[in-house]
Amino acid sequence: MLIKKPSDVLPSEITPREWYARRREFLRQAAALGLAGTMLPAARALAQTASPIIEPGKLAKLPGKPSPLSAADKRTPYKDVVTYNNYYEFGTDKSQPAENAHKLKTRPWSVAIDGEVKNKKPIDIEDLLKLAPMEERVYRMRCVEGWSMVIPWVGFPLSELIKRAEPTSKAKFIGFSTATQPDTMIGLRLPVLEWPYVEGLRMDEAMHPLTILGFGLYGEVLPSQNGAPVRLVVPWKYGFKSIKSINRITFLEQIPKTSWNIAAAQEYGFYSNVNPSVDHPRWSQATERRIGEDGFFQPKRKTLMFNGYADQVAKLYTGMVLKKFY
Ligand code: MTE
Repeated sequence: MLIKKPSDVLPSEITPREWYARRREFLRQAAALGLAGTMLPAARALAQTASPIIEPGKLAKLPGKPSPLSAADKRTPYKDVVTYNNYYEFGTDKSQPAENAHKLKTRPWSVAIDGEVKNKKPIDIEDLLKLAPMEERVYRMRCVEGWSMVIPWVGFPLSELIKRAEPTSKAKFIGFSTATQPDTMIGLRLPVLEWPYVEGLRMDEAMHPLTILGFGLYGEVLPSQNGAPVRLVVPWKYGFKSIKSINRITFLEQIPKTSWNIAAAQEYGFYSNVNPSVDHPRWSQATERRIGEDGFFQPKRKTLMFNGYADQVAKLYTGMVLKKFY
């Protein structure tokens, strides 16, 4: 992503993984001194407001029915999924979201629904959780920075919420916004991006069965650093499309603004489909390093078109010149 550092070196390349590993060890020990092992079940769901979540078993359970749309790839270890994050509202360093995001207030929470829809009624998170049966969707996720993970999300198709909203015939796109909590989100003080973080999808992308609202991972509710209490998950697009901690969904006739496009339009287009043949202006997108599997000195693995979901999604882009609509 665009980081305001003197050089163009990726942040993930500046700091060796070993260093992150040591930081994680420190956090693990800190957690062990705190709540670990002593928590009552009733307190578990609230644990994310009490201490950083870096290991499983501390948050409320959220099981999902296994889905045939899941990838068979080896899952990225929980610790990597929750300690190597991009969530700039909590800092630009990969380890900062895990350190800071537990302060996020995830209740009360509601999602505003507006724009070109018949039903503008906001939906409370407790009702949203009950809107459709939870599924476990194991998805490959590819970050624009060149790393990837395989995450067992828990959620349901975004189309379920879209149906409830009853879009008008004018609704061609959907815009999403992340909540802003100046008292908990230390990153809002940094002018790295315009806040709130915003993203968008074309209506057919939003309605695609692979596009889900994520509420959990590894069978538990989302740790805040991964976008609690509700986020988008779009596995064939670069990770920045998968906006976290959503509090507004707007149905639009025109293409919505998106945070990274506002920040650097020549680098981040609206579509942001994973495409190994379209280089980022500052680096190649042909290969990736799978976090938790590929060693730092191992050759990187090849990135697949649409992140390996071409069979399901290529038809959405028939006739589009993908170098132009990047
Ligand atoms: N959503 C918000 N609100 N803020 C962010 O900084 N980062 C994006 C995306 N969603 C981001 C966000 C990027 S760049 C990536 S790669 C993914 O979140 C990372 O999701 P993960 O930390 O759960 O792996």
